Amino acid sequence: MRVGKSIILFGPPGAGKGTQSGLISSITGKPQVSTGDMLREAVKEGTDLGKSAQSYMENGLLVPDQVIMDLIRVRLTNDDADSGLLFDGFPRTLPQAMALEQLTEVEKVISLVVEDDEIVSRITGRRTDPVSGEIYHVVFKPAPPEVSGRLVQRNDDTEETVRKRLATFHQQTAPLSEYYRERGLLIEIDGSGDIKQVSASIGTVLEKDIGS
Ligand code: AP5
Repeated sequence: MRVGKSIILFGPPGAGKGTQSGLISSITGKPQVSTGDMLREAVKEGTDLGKSAQSYMENGLLVPDQVIMDLIRVRLTNDDADSGLLFDGFPRTLPQAMALEQLTEVEKVISLVVEDDEIVSRITGRRTDPVSGEIYHVVFKPAPPEVSGRLVQRNDDTEETVRKRLATFHQQTAPLSEYYRERGLLIEIDGSGDIKQVSASIGTVLEKDIGS
């Protein structure tokens, strides 16, 4: 099974991947696939996969590659995957990146670059609407009053776990940016501005790419 060309949305935890993925999907027409969302769903449903992934996630560690690749292979059997996907938070290791190459051609890698201290304040203030899945922030993107009463905070969004997730990112995932740079696929975007500024930068890069 091999699907059409795909895009990777890359960056540290809290860089804004989930926030910006809708925009990229709407420009490129590629459905977003977040391995983090898939894992959280499995944990919520109490499946065997969810039970085995939970302690890795709560401790800021990566879930084993084999588990992730099994999830991805199943996801690629959906009809909407035929013309390629937008991967959010995947791949995160070299073995995952190499396994992905057997399944799709990576067209580009959009990398959001944000400093660690900014990440900590973004993640500890993150709140999610369990009904719509919309991502908010207590300061940077407050929820409307009718939604604010039902917002939830992720278990792994404490400062202690964020620091561990950042260490995991720097050790195991950040080296992938070099892998994609060498292949001429890496597009780095300054993710440190506000949400609208980052969206504008992504939009400019993608429109230029589509137009060329
Ligand atoms: P996952 O769910 O993928 O988490 P992550 O990569 O740590 O990324 P986040 O979802 O935390 O951040 P984001 O970049 O989407 O930021 P967001 O847009 O929400 O993974 C969770 C866990 O699952 C991992 O730790 C691991 O255990 C496991 N896992 C998942 N995939 C795996 C894989 N492939 N291999 C192995 N294990 C895997 O924004 C964050 C906050 O900032 C929000 O509140 C938002 O409103 C705000 N914000 C966004 N942009 C801005 C801005 N420009 N200015 C100010 N605030 C902003």
